[in-house]
Amino acid sequence: MTNTLLTTDVLIIGSGAAGLGLALRLPEQVRCTVVAKRELVEGNTLYAQGGISAVLDSADSLESHVLDTLEAGASLCQEDVVRTVVEHGPAAIRWLAGQGVAFTQNPPTGDSEFHLTREGGHSHRRVVHAADATGRAVETTLVEQVRQRPNVTILEHHIAVDITRTHEPRCTGAYLLDLQHDRVVAVPARIVVLATGGAAKVYLYTSNPDVATGDGIAMAWRAGCRIANMEFVQFHPTCLYHPQAKSFLISEAVRGEGGHLLLSDGTRFMSRFDERAELAPRDIVARAIDHEMKRLGSDCIYLDISHKPASFIEEHFPTIHTRCLELGFDMRKKPLPVVPAAHYTCGGVRVDIHGETDVPGLFAIGETAYTGLHGANRMASNSLLECLVYGELALARILQQLDESDEMPQVPAWDESRVTDSDEEVVVSHNWEELRRFMWDYVGIVRSNKRLARARRRVDLLRHEINEYYGNFRVSNDLLELRNLVEVADLIVQSAMRRRESRGLHYNIDFPETDPNQAQPTVLIPDNYVPRIPEDRVSSGSAGNPSSNKRRRTR
Ligand code: FAD
Ligand code: SIN
Repeated sequence: MTNTLLTTDVLIIGSGAAGLGLALRLPEQVRCTVVAKRELVEGNTLYAQGGISAVLDSADSLESHVLDTLEAGASLCQEDVVRTVVEHGPAAIRWLAGQGVAFTQNPPTGDSEFHLTREGGHSHRRVVHAADATGRAVETTLVEQVRQRPNVTILEHHIAVDITRTHEPRCTGAYLLDLQHDRVVAVPARIVVLATGGAAKVYLYTSNPDVATGDGIAMAWRAGCRIANMEFVQFHPTCLYHPQAKSFLISEAVRGEGGHLLLSDGTRFMSRFDERAELAPRDIVARAIDHEMKRLGSDCIYLDISHKPASFIEEHFPTIHTRCLELGFDMRKKPLPVVPAAHYTCGGVRVDIHGETDVPGLFAIGETAYTGLHGANRMASNSLLECLVYGELALARILQQLDESDEMPQVPAWDESRVTDSDEEVVVSHNWEELRRFMWDYVGIVRSNKRLARARRRVDLLRHEINEYYGNFRVSNDLLELRNLVEVADLIVQSAMRRRESRGLHYNIDFPETDPNQAQPTVLIPDNYVPRIPEDRVSSGSAGNPSSNKRRRTR
């Protein structure tokens, strides 16, 4: 069954810090719809631990935050974007506090109202946090606020299938699969915002929850948007090594507050790799751990903060300490076994300083976007900051476009007259597992030309198989996510193959050096891209035509 569910001024797909940050800023006369695949709270934001970076201490400076971000980004950040985001940081924190987020406070004598912790790459303490569960404090507060807004309609358990657009192009809305009623609905919207988060689920081991399947990146690509820097996947150095822990994150703030990385014989090793030791940027720490684990043939390394008083650990890391205790580890007494896992997608949908994509009327904010802030490696706690600041930067452009025209676009009804129910669900579950495993093995922390070529062959095969399956059968949540994951895997592999050097998070043993001539982002262009400025066209890829809602049987 198919129909048109509703029309809306602004359709925000995603309910993390980025999506809700924007929804809450929209004036009440603007009708807004927020869509989430699962419950509203679920997404990367909920699990964020360390905090949000912003300059709030008189000993710190905006310039220092800018320089640290540029250095972590390995000469690939866009400096004007870095400056804009950093300058908006203090106001973003005040806005969150105004919404009711209870950040950890300093004693009244402290220079800053908020307690500031430290993480890798930061030359000052500048990470505002709510103990070690900052994301939970932010997300639950924003959800509580947005539920009270009369102009916001909330659609939980709806997964966006594709964005719709006209030929010119202009974004017209989206198709959503209502997971509880198993039907696809067309939603015309004057503005669509992708706030769908990251894509780290494309790897077998990840700190991310199940929703992080890169849907926004894949939908934008199919809609004709350029995608940039997908080779830069961040692996967090320290996730708990335990079969039931699902790569539970041990915050970088543990190292920021004095934790040491140890080999199994108890020796520290990070100073052999970088003078900043445990507080070097993440790419360096993750690569050093990978190197040591391979050199020694060990399953993990160790993170030790047991030299700090037990009361300090309980006060600063209550969530991590409690979860570790449940799994049989007491971090007050012993080092924790840890391994790296895929954590953050630095690349994404290429947007301008207002978060607008190549398709007018379609915006992308938060982890799904490529803004130019992170370059080749995101500095810790700059992500939540980017989510919040881009919500604000997008607002003015969205309001301007709503003012310019009040015409509601048309979206054709979803047509599934020529598809049937799936006869072999195993195709989806098998391919899901295979894709994530070979991405881990061949496109992980350390890459080589041979491994990338192997990955390329497998992605091509899977992509063909999954697209055929999509053309024949009714859509389901798992099929849509797998279709998006394979698209994202393809974009990562293509981007990694184009970069013939090592830089930031992308390390290829066949090109181990950084080449100053390659200090530009990798930009992939879909076949249906319509340049706003003709010279924008720099290379090409291949995407389907999402504007077509015809689902054809292919056999
Ligand atoms: P998310 O919060 O991931 O939200 C995505 C939303 O999109 C969800 O509502 C989801 O349901 C929805 N969605 C996705 N696809 C669809 C679809 N097809 N249809 C409908 N809805 C869809 N960053 C920091 O700055 N500081 C930290 O301390 C920090 N710690 C972290 C710890 C962990 C364990 C993890 C995983 C990440 C951490 N990060 C941290 C990164 C940061 O949390 C994320 O980058 C950020 O929260 C992303 O927010 P977002 O709003 O873009 O997306
Ligand atoms: C962490 O707490 O280590 C995660 C911080 C981040 O990803 O920015």
